[in-house]
Amino acid sequence: MTDQTKDRVLIFDTTLRDGEQSPGATMTHDEKLEIAELLDDMGVDIIEAGFPIASEGDFRAVSEIAERSKDAVICGLARAQLPDIDRCWEAVKHAGKPRIHTFIGTSPLHRAIPNLTMDEMADRIHETVTHARNLCDNVQWSPMDATRTEWDYLCRVVEIAIKAGATTINIPDTVGYTAPRESADLIKRLIETVPGAPDVVFATHCHNDLGMATANALAAVEGGARQIECTINGLGERAGNTALEEVVMAIKTRSDIMPFTTGIETKKIMHISRRVATVAGFPVQFNKAIVGKNAFAHESGIHQDGMLKNAETFEIMRPEDVGIAGTSLPLGKHSGRAALRAKLKELGVEVGDNQLKDIFVRFKELADRKKEVYDDDILALVSATADEETDSLQLVNMSVHCGTGGPATADLEMEIDGKEVSATSQGDGPVDATFKAIRMLHPNAARLQLYQVHAVTEGTDAQATVTVRLEEDGMIATGQSADTDTVVASAKAYINALNRLVVRREKTGKDVKEISYKDA
Ligand code: KIV
Ligand code: ZN
Repeated sequence: MTDQTKDRVLIFDTTLRDGEQSPGATMTHDEKLEIAELLDDMGVDIIEAGFPIASEGDFRAVSEIAERSKDAVICGLARAQLPDIDRCWEAVKHAGKPRIHTFIGTSPLHRAIPNLTMDEMADRIHETVTHARNLCDNVQWSPMDATRTEWDYLCRVVEIAIKAGATTINIPDTVGYTAPRESADLIKRLIETVPGAPDVVFATHCHNDLGMATANALAAVEGGARQIECTINGLGERAGNTALEEVVMAIKTRSDIMPFTTGIETKKIMHISRRVATVAGFPVQFNKAIVGKNAFAHESGIHQDGMLKNAETFEIMRPEDVGIAGTSLPLGKHSGRAALRAKLKELGVEVGDNQLKDIFVRFKELADRKKEVYDDDILALVSATADEETDSLQLVNMSVHCGTGGPATADLEMEIDGKEVSATSQGDGPVDATFKAIRMLHPNAARLQLYQVHAVTEGTDAQATVTVRLEEDGMIATGQSADTDTVVASAKAYINALNRLVVRREKTGKDVKEISYKDA
């Protein structure tokens, strides 16, 4: 490790790979490109863009992200098999800075699955890392379930991987089993014990099964790791991964006890968090650190009083540093496009002229209906406009009649594959009537698994964010939308979920091979 990299912690984001493995979190091709661009612009050092052998869709996404990459290293995942590694290289080789990440489960439980002896697995690691290194100068190797692997064997396989040419050794806590002191100690002992270890970068990859992922990752850095693997909003398998926003803001806020730096432009955190929540269909819990709706909200009298006197009484970081203004927006119905663009910039959101035009139209509509337009409203508008252009199902118009007198009636106009169609349906309440009308226009067997409404801001004129999760033949798709009219937001969220199912049907058609870690 050079002096220059000593205190700099590399941020490795795996939202598009480990994050997308969360049940129900599927992103379309265009959404993946968008998220990758936001990550690159925010200063993420390494983007794990996908698992190229998993499907034709993953391969295309990793290849295109690699082609479009700017500063970030683009990494693809591969099992310890030569065809996986070749496929991964075919996808990442288009990047200015490509990386192959290959892994195998080394704990007793994981060794039993491919039924390899310790010696056979050691040979496989030597063969596959050597092969990856012959293709690419930048190779990461991971012993999956490292924290439950026997110490002597872990040292042995890490040494083999380093000798075969791995430049980064990642130590995954695959099942979220470790605890901070143990996490720090493991990395420290590996670096002290394994020959060649001080010459490579050690990484930490923590899952959150016991709610300790962020603490374990930061402890690993104290033990000597200089790469943190994480995801936006902590998305990931089961209880998720270390959250990018948490480790970055912890390092920034407590530089007195963690004297490290990252290259992340923190003002962009809130926007990317919102985008990932929307495209992955996983709303952020209100009390989530840094990015939750309540993270900078104060309700009790004592806290409000303290805040008015000095914000530092109850806030350890400035909301502006993560891309939220602490106060309400001065934007209103008289604000122009320049003010909107400036506000978006302040929120860390960069949009092209066309998207700005769309957001501006919606902003004016909203400002007409709503007294105050808050930052959260603007971010909700940005999310809503980013999705719609390429969707095959679009809402054109709707009206609903409902009340105490009987069933509700919904009249709906939609554009489906460019053709305008309309339907009227009755239902048990306005949302039921609306969903039935949508099903008349786009018949489908999808089962409604979740219907959830949140207010974006306060007041009866607040925008509602609606989340709809559908299940069809084992495929899960989640849609989200925001509007001051809850029924309109519901219709748009339902249509959004259907659009995702259309994409998933295409994606999982012929081209997806059943793939599992079990084959590793
Ligand atoms: O959790 C894990 O072990 C992983 C590996 C593929 C690195 O995600
Ligand atoms: Zn993982």
